[in-house]
Amino acid sequence: MDSVFVLNGPNLNLLGLREPAIYGSDTLDDIAGMLEDRAHALGLEIDMRQSNHEGHLVDWLHEANAAGAKAVILNAAGFTHTSVALHDAIKAISVPVIEVHLSNPHRRESFRHNSFVGGAAIGTIAGFGAFSYLLALDAAARL
Ligand code: DQA
Repeated sequence: MDSVFVLNGPNLNLLGLREPAIYGSDTLDDIAGMLEDRAHALGLEIDMRQSNHEGHLVDWLHEANAAGAKAVILNAAGFTHTSVALHDAIKAISVPVIEVHLSNPHRRESFRHNSFVGGAAIGTIAGFGAFSYLLALDAAARL
């Protein structure tokens, strides 16, 4: 069965508690549950992970590639706007990476308008809350 890695960056472990007016009340476990259900319907399996450490995300991108994953859905959170290392990791692998955000960074502070991830990803889905992840999974299924 094709697998899709779903990688989540810093502070996303606090989803549900963290600025709910911006990020919603769903926890990361809630989102994992929704993705599991949708993945089942699509004939995919998901591998959902979260880390507050940039290097873990780099290592997991390499791992997704080595494992022959069908796609990676990546919410790099704050590292989106800072990480050349993530940009380089996405460029270094052949697995397509879909950038995802709960909020729409372009409607927010100007420091969120640049994405090092978006410059390397195959596409970006942002602004639909937890539904952004489901849209990304549908996109992954069609790659
Ligand atoms: C985020 C947007 C980022 O700007 C922010 O740093 C996050 C979450 C989102 O999902 O909306 O941590 O990636």
